[in-house]
Amino acid sequence: MKKTDSIFIAGHNGLVGNSVLNLLVKNGYQKIITVDRKKLDLQDYKKVEKFFKNIKIDYMIMAAARAGGIMANSANQKDFFLQNIEIQNSLLKLALKKRVKRTIFLGTSCIYPKFSKTPIKEESLLTGKLEKTNQCYAIAKIAGIKLSEALFEDYKLDIICLMPTNVYGINDNFDKFNGHVIPAMISKFIHAKKNNAKQIKLLGSGKPLREFIHSNDLANAILTCLKISKNRLRSLFKSSMPIINVGTGENISIFKLANTISELVGFSGRIIFDRKYPDGTYQKNLNSNKIYSLGWKPSIKLTKGLKEVIDNKLY
Ligand SMILES: NC(=O)c1ccc[n+]([C@@H]2O[C@H](COP(=O)([O-])OP(=O)(O)OC[C@H]3O[C@@H](n4cnc5c(N)ncnc54)[C@H](OP(=O)(O)O)[C@@H]3O)[C@@H](O)[C@H]2O)c1
Repeated sequence: MKKTDSIFIAGHNGLVGNSVLNLLVKNGYQKIITVDRKKLDLQDYKKVEKFFKNIKIDYMIMAAARAGGIMANSANQKDFFLQNIEIQNSLLKLALKKRVKRTIFLGTSCIYPKFSKTPIKEESLLTGKLEKTNQCYAIAKIAGIKLSEALFEDYKLDIICLMPTNVYGINDNFDKFNGHVIPAMISKFIHAKKNNAKQIKLLGSGKPLREFIHSNDLANAILTCLKISKNRLRSLFKSSMPIINVGTGENISIFKLANTISELVGFSGRIIFDRKYPDGTYQKNLNSNKIYSLGWKPSIKLTKGLKEVIDNKLY
């Protein structure tokens, strides 16, 4: 991969896309292609094809998606399904049309069955029933993996599918309802502290265990995968398309997470868990040995990453 290769980051304004953009700029990549959603709706393949008619793409990172937390997911299953299917269909068709040298497809740990043996290995894909609260999102992502596999096998298109664990970072969506657990919680705690609230109510039992990765660590994993040689990939994956988990191995309960965020924000009231709300899968930490063996390791510990995000929000 050369510094002069053209790299299209789809979704560069999002949590992951923005970290990837910053990392590529920092590493001296000179031809980074980005386009705002207002200018190009990636769900519309005809427009995508027209937009890129005279633009060369060497590498593509698919960080555009409809993503969100458990509440947003379960309340908008149709949209999570259709938007993700349409975006990834457009981008994968584009990758084929432009014969992109390598495409990184971003999936999610939600694709794995609800009762997978943990830490979850990539081989668990399609071995059981999915968690109901986000099954449309998960099925859309699985469809993306299967389309990638067809392009890899039938058209020799170089695609790597990464399955990150829950991501957090500076450029997150901090909406209390639609955001993922960390940004939604941070917003709730900051709001409670500002209002001198005596207590704060969080959704679910607090019992589930989760694994979180900072978006800058995930960006590093994406760059590692863009740069890794085909021979190295073949030695690990033989003739199969690489499906690679990206996690940290650090597991934390939602209860402990809430207490950590509460402390970092400086909230001193009571934390109440409202069990009326769903918990989602109890535990879904990933086995990330494959990406570790490719030379990537996470570098940002959760408490340090949370402090950085919270400080950025507070000051
Ligand atoms: N966040 C997580 O916890 C997590 C975990 C595992 C996997 N992932 C995966 O990682 C990828 C990136 O997620 P993220 O958290 O960075 O998501 P995000 O912050 O919501 O960013 C998604 C980006 O996609 C853009 N986008 C959405 N629909 C579009 C459309 N129709 N046309 C053009 N652009 C569109 C958005 O543009 P606007 O900003 O203009 O809306 C946004 O910039 C996704 O594939 C997601 O499934 C995320």
